[in-house]
Amino acid sequence: MWGTATAAHQVEGNNTNNNWYRFEHQKDSSGKPRIHNNDKSGLAADHWNRYKEDIDLMNELGVKYYRFSIEWSKIEPKNGIFNEKALEHYRELCTTLIDSGLTPVVTLHHFTHPIWFEDLGGFEKEENIKHYLEFSEFVFNKLSDLVPFWCTINEPAVYVSQGYFNGVFPPGKKDPVLAGQVMKNLLSAHVAVFRHLKTLPNGMNVQIGLVKNITQFDPLRRWHILDWYFSGILNDIFTNNTIDLLTTGDFNFYLPGMANISYKNTDAIGAIDFIGLNYYSRWHVKGHLNTATPFTFETRPEDIQTDMPYSIYPEGFYRAIQTISKLNKPIIITENGIADNKDDRRELFIERYLYALYKAIMDGYDIRGYFYWTLMDNFEWAEGYAMKFGLYEVDFTTQKRELRKGSLAFSKIVKQPGADKRGYIVSVGDQAPDLLLEYTNGKTVQLSDLLGQVVVLQFTASWCSVCIQEMPHLEKEVWNAYKDKGLMLIGIDRDEPLDVVEKFQEKVGTTYPIALDPGAKHFSKFAHINSGVTRNIVIDKNGKIAFLTRLFDKEEFQAMINKIDLLIQEQYQSTPFKRDS
Ligand code: FCB
Repeated sequence: MWGTATAAHQVEGNNTNNNWYRFEHQKDSSGKPRIHNNDKSGLAADHWNRYKEDIDLMNELGVKYYRFSIEWSKIEPKNGIFNEKALEHYRELCTTLIDSGLTPVVTLHHFTHPIWFEDLGGFEKEENIKHYLEFSEFVFNKLSDLVPFWCTINEPAVYVSQGYFNGVFPPGKKDPVLAGQVMKNLLSAHVAVFRHLKTLPNGMNVQIGLVKNITQFDPLRRWHILDWYFSGILNDIFTNNTIDLLTTGDFNFYLPGMANISYKNTDAIGAIDFIGLNYYSRWHVKGHLNTATPFTFETRPEDIQTDMPYSIYPEGFYRAIQTISKLNKPIIITENGIADNKDDRRELFIERYLYALYKAIMDGYDIRGYFYWTLMDNFEWAEGYAMKFGLYEVDFTTQKRELRKGSLAFSKIVKQPGADKRGYIVSVGDQAPDLLLEYTNGKTVQLSDLLGQVVVLQFTASWCSVCIQEMPHLEKEVWNAYKDKGLMLIGIDRDEPLDVVEKFQEKVGTTYPIALDPGAKHFSKFAHINSGVTRNIVIDKNGKIAFLTRLFDKEEFQAMINKIDLLIQEQYQSTPFKRDS
């Protein structure tokens, strides 16, 4: 699943009834505005009115999924009073997406909630969870026929650390004990909503998950025990306690000398269908022998920085996938992106992070999707409009959107045919790409000239032991058995010079022709360039791919022979005998 992600308050505009609106209009205790540059979200990207145009942008990128959040304060402006018209807007958004070939993915809480809920104490009070449950039920009942993926809460640990520890998100508090309580309540709210929505109509047909931000806390100095100690503590309260709760039912929030909260909730065990992973970067932690400031965060001069205080650290993305895989649930990357006003690091970021993602998929991690943060420039919370995370640049005076150059790196990959688990980018039923092959004897053949015949392409190489094992079988059971019945078998040697290929052919003793493949150009039309050889591609008389093998599996090999046999019989019935000698 390729997608982009947004959040209601950051893009919709006219959100004047939530905790963030109030925060934007407040000053902190020293009289400074809460938001960078005293920005207000205001009209934002006017996505509420321009969503159709924005769906066109998604189509231009080639993505097929859209993650957005539902603004609770618009749906339930007063406690218990629901606004059907606002809900209707989101239904229209969903149907427009679906009509344009996109799948909606909904987030129920992305940092914002109505002022009345904040005034009741928000998630500081366990008894308020019921209000979030009522809102979620209302939305789910109205949209679950259209929305197959649901995110309950976006980044509880970010909401808590920014709102209750650093004081830069609403409610702007700095209270570690309260932070621990809010964390516990948010996770309880997730569990309650997950369990409840699962019982509603469509509950069992949709996937419901939690969105977890992972930001690693790494020791600044590898030799310093205090850096290690505080990194460990911070990783525990930011990430590990959520994983523990969802796997064992145990939750601990321990900050030495500041907070120590434990609780048990066995309902939490396994309470997700998938885990959403948001990843940006890591922090370097410096420990101090100072109870007032036990740790600080530092940046390293050698790191490439983005406009946010995040370095480009794709290895961390891989590590985060490893960490979250402990939950043993399908993983969806629900956010990943870069703030880059100059657009001079975006391409690098995209290529490196998507390489890490590719590695993780190839290593077997169960990753189902990737949502880029974000579609277009937006109101970046405490940073206001200063941060440019958009694939599209937005001119906030004219609301014009323009694709950034660096974003092409993303849409290029999105539009590339996806490789299957075996590395194939073609499938059975596809028209085989046309190739101009050059045999070791200098003769050339155009694949399309062989239309009317059954053709087997065998991808091989002299260093490939599995190929060497398989080739005598190809010689005997395919080439010798069917060459006189109209079959053509061509070996294609991956990126080796003529003399090496000739020796190889002699050594294995095969007699079917072998073609050269400099730079794996032919290979990469069928399989991902970095995937392995030992593949047979069976092509029917109409040039359509009929069978694909990978490695030398006896059963699969036999199934291929059976398929070839059928195709040859069909060929005999319809076309006169023809063979390339
Ligand atoms: C994540 C938030 C998202 C956006 C990005 C940059 O923590 O979920 O709304 O602000 O960071």
